[in-house]
Amino acid sequence: MVCLGNICRSPLAHGILQHKAYAENIAIEVDSAGTGSWHIGSAPDIRSIEVADKHGIDIRHQKARQFTTHDFNKFDHIYVMDKSNFSDVVRLASTQNDVDKVELILQHLNSENPPSVPDPYYGGNDGFENVYQLLDAACQKVIDKIKQNL
Ligand code: 4NP
Repeated sequence: MVCLGNICRSPLAHGILQHKAYAENIAIEVDSAGTGSWHIGSAPDIRSIEVADKHGIDIRHQKARQFTTHDFNKFDHIYVMDKSNFSDVVRLASTQNDVDKVELILQHLNSENPPSVPDPYYGGNDGFENVYQLLDAACQKVIDKIKQNL
């Protein structure tokens, strides 16, 4: 799960997908990263921690890190939150196989015209709840897809 800062959106996506996988007994490795370096080592934004907590998910332990080219080898799928994350990540790809791993997370809600997960950083708490709901729905689709392929 990749966003810009790795403190608002991708930590939530990371926590939600991990939570759902655990509940369904699906063994997958989930991680998150940011394309930017400003928040390396920071815990998620308190507003992301609080909205996750409200829905029974603990993301306090997460620590922001920056996306690296090594992630292309380590992960089968790289879900990005918005179009700018998409181009930043694709720019680091060295093979077509790497590029093919990168997908907008909301592709799972609208494959024809996938929207971006809005950046809630400069807004209020409503923005975080909206991000939570979008990511919850998209992560459920990811889980459903994994289950179909088991
Ligand atoms: P995120 O949100 O990409 O969802 O983690 C942001 C966090 C920090 C900044 C921008 C977006 N920032 O400019 O510091």
